[in-house]
Amino acid sequence: MFIAGSIIGGNILNIEEILKVSEENGVDWIHLDIMDGNFVPNITFGLEFVKKIKQKTFLPLDVHLMVLNPDKYVEFSNYCDMINFHIETTHFPIRVIEIMRKSNPRIKVGVAVNPCTSISFIENMEGYLDNILIMSVEPGFAGQKFINNTLKKIEQAKKITENWKSKPIISVDGGINSENYKIVLGKGANYIVCASYLYDDYSKIREKILMMRKGL
Ligand code: DX5
Ligand code: ZN
Repeated sequence: MFIAGSIIGGNILNIEEILKVSEENGVDWIHLDIMDGNFVPNITFGLEFVKKIKQKTFLPLDVHLMVLNPDKYVEFSNYCDMINFHIETTHFPIRVIEIMRKSNPRIKVGVAVNPCTSISFIENMEGYLDNILIMSVEPGFAGQKFINNTLKKIEQAKKITENWKSKPIISVDGGINSENYKIVLGKGANYIVCASYLYDDYSKIREKILMMRKGL
């Protein structure tokens, strides 16, 4: 299982420190939340920022696009290792995936799903998905409460993909904390994204990661 640290949970006035504590304490991936102020009511950062982060860390980067018109953000795929866009933002997810892969053939591509969006559409996407990003909060902000209704989608994703030749990662993003990560992993997620829980106290990151890995 993989643990991705979402940097908006830390002190983003000091990104280098966030990257350093992540590298030193066992975070597997850096999760970058790109918000456009349109698809979600918040704005974070853009391409130039992601390019700089790429130069500053050896950890793989996971870009989570919370933007309208994801095909226009294809350039991000050249500066990260995984890119995810929201199914709610396009009628042509396979086309968007192909655009991302054409730009960077080594990239992993995933589709993110809001809490009230059903994931039955993935039945039509065998062979295209490297990741299914199940949102367990409404996208837009860190520090929100986990929505329990989204748990069943983890099991659904696992069931739908169980006979696929190439199995996508099943990731969960939003409201993960000490109370619920075991449930999330128990349902079949193998990649969890944490912002507030992980970065609220840098001195406890290592301990939290060890606990999550051991399932304690
Ligand atoms: C929410 C973002 C999440 C967020 C998670 O829109 O996609 O990645 O950073 O934050 P926490 O872990 O605090 O819920
Ligand atoms: Zn995210």
